[in-house]
Amino acid sequence: MSSNSDLFDQARQVLKKNDQKNFTIPAEGLYPHQWLWDSCFIAIGLSHVNVPRAKREIKSLLRGQWSNGMLPNMIFDDALWLNQDRNIWRSHLSIYAPDKVSTSGITQPPMLAESVVRVGRKMTKGERRTWYKSMLPALIAYHQWLYEERDPNQSGLVTLIHPYESGMDSTPPWINQLHKHHRPWWVKPYKSLKLDNIVNRIRRDTRHLPPGQRMDTLDAMLYYDVIRSLRNKHYDIGRIFKHTQFTIQDLGFNSIFIRANQHLLDMAEYSGYELPIQLTDRIEQSKHALEMLWDNYSGQYLSKNFKTNKLIREPTIATLLPLYAGTVTKERAQTLVNLLLDDTKFMMPHPIPSVPKDSKYFEPERYWQGPSWININWLIIDGLERYGYTDIASILKQKSLDLVSTHGCFEYFSPIDGTPAGAANFSWTAALTIDFLQ
Ligand code: GLC
Repeated sequence: MSSNSDLFDQARQVLKKNDQKNFTIPAEGLYPHQWLWDSCFIAIGLSHVNVPRAKREIKSLLRGQWSNGMLPNMIFDDALWLNQDRNIWRSHLSIYAPDKVSTSGITQPPMLAESVVRVGRKMTKGERRTWYKSMLPALIAYHQWLYEERDPNQSGLVTLIHPYESGMDSTPPWINQLHKHHRPWWVKPYKSLKLDNIVNRIRRDTRHLPPGQRMDTLDAMLYYDVIRSLRNKHYDIGRIFKHTQFTIQDLGFNSIFIRANQHLLDMAEYSGYELPIQLTDRIEQSKHALEMLWDNYSGQYLSKNFKTNKLIREPTIATLLPLYAGTVTKERAQTLVNLLLDDTKFMMPHPIPSVPKDSKYFEPERYWQGPSWININWLIIDGLERYGYTDIASILKQKSLDLVSTHGCFEYFSPIDGTPAGAANFSWTAALTIDFLQ
């Protein structure tokens, strides 16, 4: 194990290695573009070492903002060898996509407000006001887009159209619904021809990592097929909602959105900026919208299918994210803490597993179906602190730091024995390690 100051240096080195001057890639080789929530976490880490650079990380995300307000989950590098990535999405098919950069056509958890606030905390009061004022127009446009496009029934909850938007790509509720609602004709021949080995040789992630640490191959192919169908509809939300049932009111995303709304209100107040009344009305209405995702039967929060209006009974780490939202009652918060401390569910030697131990999906090294992730720990720790569970929060913080100092800044870790998995030198692990150490 390294000492705290060695660990701090190690984490800084990772961020330096992945630095592209104005933004940071998540990891070399596997993730060669800019990702939305990654850059938000990265800026939080950078704010402790270089505030102007942290600001640049955030501002560079705005290059990709669509004219309707959407912030895409990926802004593509324009290197020739990455043509294939841009071509999968062909964002220019939408009239709203920017001209100068190529992006994906979907978003990712709205961590931007949190990141802007954290970077702002490192400034003098005057600088902070100016910083908030400069960021609020883009943030307002983004949150308004989330409401207008993604909450057509004005429920207070936003709906996602691709699992990548949840940030937890292979998380069980999405896999469960994928198999129910997205069944293209080629699934049967694909299965009978046993094409997995061939596809694994073409997939970028399984060229870098053992297939057992990544998504199931058929699921990955189906995810591409969903992208194809979004692209064919030119990312027009009316057409998308009309033609698919594979749309979800995702618990993790909505928890982060509710927290982000609070940050927007606080920033506006701090800098004397007036938010549009339509937005503040929607924010008010959203405040307790997570209660629509509460499942009395199992005593926890879950994601819900937007079209069928049915809760998806696959608990995951998102079950605990209402703690981060901060708007659930103290009683509900205590229920979530009980789940976190339950050693048949989330309490494991190296917490917090991305699905509970008793889930049929649980595999300790498989991506979002078991491993512990530092960014999710960070969110839950932040929520626990605000609810007053400071002792549990500091134990989780120490356990997260132990994982990184023993193994390095990996993408994720086995909750059973800490085995590192996924990409090495992963940026958000490094950035949040820096934040934990402060
Ligand atoms: C994976 C993760 C996603 C992350 C991206 C880049 O796709 O599931 O959350 O943003 O990698 O690190």
